Amino acid sequence: MLKLLTLILALVPQLIPAPAEMQVRGGSFLVTPPSNNKIEFRLEPDCGLPAEGYTLEVTRSRVRAVASTEAGLFYARQTLNQLEENGRIPCVTIKDYPRFAWRGFHLDPCRHFLSVEDTKQYIDILASYKMNVMHWHLTDDQGWRIQIKKYPRLTEVGGTRTEFDGSVHQGFYTQEEIKEVVAYAAQRHVTVLPEIEMPGHAIAAIRAYPGLSCTKETVNTFYTWGSPDIVLCPGREFMFEFLEDVIAEVVELFPGEYIHIGGDECKKDKWEQCPHCQARIKALGLVADDKGTAEEKLQSYAIRRMEDILHKYGRKLIGWDEILEGGLSPNATVMSWRGETGGIAAALQGHDVIMTPSKEGMYLDHYQGDSKIEPVAIGNYTTLEKAYAYDPVPAELVQNGKEDHVIGLQCNNWSEYIYSNSHRQYMLFPRAFAVAETGWTPKAKKDWESFRVRVDKACRDLDRRGVNYHIPLPEQPGGSCDKLVFTDKAVVEFTTTRPVAAMVYTVDGSEPTAASARYTQPLEFTRDATLKIASLTSYGKLSPVRTITIRQEEPMEALPAAAVESGIRSSRADGRFVTVADTQGAAWKEIKLEKLRDMNTLEPFDRNMPDTLRFYAVQAQACFNVKETAVYRFSSDCDQVWIDGRLLIDNGAQVKRYSRQDAEAALEAGPHSVKVVYIYNVIGGWNSIRNKTDVQIMRAGSGKWRKIELL
Ligand code: ACM
Ligand code: ZN
Repeated sequence: MLKLLTLILALVPQLIPAPAEMQVRGGSFLVTPPSNNKIEFRLEPDCGLPAEGYTLEVTRSRVRAVASTEAGLFYARQTLNQLEENGRIPCVTIKDYPRFAWRGFHLDPCRHFLSVEDTKQYIDILASYKMNVMHWHLTDDQGWRIQIKKYPRLTEVGGTRTEFDGSVHQGFYTQEEIKEVVAYAAQRHVTVLPEIEMPGHAIAAIRAYPGLSCTKETVNTFYTWGSPDIVLCPGREFMFEFLEDVIAEVVELFPGEYIHIGGDECKKDKWEQCPHCQARIKALGLVADDKGTAEEKLQSYAIRRMEDILHKYGRKLIGWDEILEGGLSPNATVMSWRGETGGIAAALQGHDVIMTPSKEGMYLDHYQGDSKIEPVAIGNYTTLEKAYAYDPVPAELVQNGKEDHVIGLQCNNWSEYIYSNSHRQYMLFPRAFAVAETGWTPKAKKDWESFRVRVDKACRDLDRRGVNYHIPLPEQPGGSCDKLVFTDKAVVEFTTTRPVAAMVYTVDGSEPTAASARYTQPLEFTRDATLKIASLTSYGKLSPVRTITIRQEEPMEALPAAAVESGIRSSRADGRFVTVADTQGAAWKEIKLEKLRDMNTLEPFDRNMPDTLRFYAVQAQACFNVKETAVYRFSSDCDQVWIDGRLLIDNGAQVKRYSRQDAEAALEAGPHSVKVVYIYNVIGGWNSIRNKTDVQIMRAGSGKWRKIELL
């Protein structure tokens, strides 16, 4: 059935986004060099098509595209490019136009920088799928990435951060480079929306110019993720002078009508303590009421002043949905990211809205498969199907006649956990294609079954361009694990997040190929094996290969009564350790711990990461009990877990978040020993003081994790 559907769908042109109207006829137009004069692109301002719309007529003898704008002709060209296969263009009649004016994608060079060339490549690819806005998140706590001539320290100092391990991360775009990107985008009918973050997410600017903060403290450009509470000070006039100076340079570089001023996740603690902020609150007569706290109203005041500045330069303001708190500026457009609630509220008040809700499928930094085997991500779960299913027009706005205030949608690609451009590609593609289709194609024409087949052609396009993308991995229902153990027989089952042509595997240690054995039913093992398994796409490409060791074990003997101790024996060593190997030779001192959970409480958590932090490592040894002789699976975000003297989990120098080193062991009923090593450090921007420092255990196959209970 699936094969038949695939075959039928393969006969119609595989376009993304699907056009509004298309008739396919028999035959095709042959593209040969002399045929050029038979391909016509006509600009007809009075043709009656919507601004970005076009018609395309392909017959055996000619190709004719008509549009009322250059953008329309550009999109006709993209459709034609997608239609052409091996010099043939199928005969079609297409009338096409977008559902939404705003079809956005967002890049975050602050957390991990990306080059001008890589930025252009995203523009090039996504414009060919008819997206038309690139939201460029240019400033944040972890880096200021846009040259501002009046404030050179923003990029000289705020463009660089030193990571925990001493490595340096840096980069910024000169104004010339920005002009180059903006011009490149304009040629592809993409508008670049710059974001200059205020009043939160501004540590990089404060590092460069401490006078921007409430207490003028000296800070480091932030090298962890999350929100510090050091923010800009709207009590001081300098903040507004600074931002106006920045905006004055920004508007010279970006011709679009909007400027994004951020506005999200601004902690207000410092404002509560700041005499300047409190004086401003008093002078303005801001008081807490049911619309917000005095500090929220101070933020609202700051956003209004930004709006005034932007109006002076003939621009409009966009902000994240927090700008609703304390009252929305008169003409602000809202980007709704914390769900749709903010967007709905703003639209009901008559404001324009761009929908980019995180948990509803628009955050492409989320996991797109099982977190146990996917590369570490920020969390959550957004499969291609979920991204595709999102519709940006809530029923409530339709009921109230306000749906036209939803001017479009956008996917965001926050880059905290994106350590390379290849990985950025992996997170964006193919999910961004789903967003492209929702942005363009009439709702009634959207169809997941058709899209998931068409997306394979778009992925082959990425292969031609040398661009990485996600292919669903073989996953184990109930949680994937690469280190399996059995006592008499193992049964290993696999599935994928969306249909693939097949899963292929080997058990002889060789790398699987398209010709390897196909997975058709759960695999049974009665001997030790190394299973290598990958997904196979319809066009013969393999996903990354999973290597799973499957070992037969005798259950580890329970500890003799004399060896069983209650409580935790633990010791601490101070220092900046990246891995357990770094703790060799450290001075360990005995400490008292009540619970494994306490390992990360030996120093206070300070979200601002001052230089005075004392990093350390802890070793903890204890006994625990299992009720039945069985295979157990262990999981932990600590650095190492040893069971009965055997190293079972070693997170090495990996980001210690969302454990990906789960492992099984067969244990006899009764007491066993566990040793845990925890290091308070920052790897890949993740501060391990925020971890739960315990060990999770489950009876293999039960799917029920619980905390290991110590004796
Ligand atoms: C956001 O994700 N903080 C807008
Ligand atoms: Zn202040």
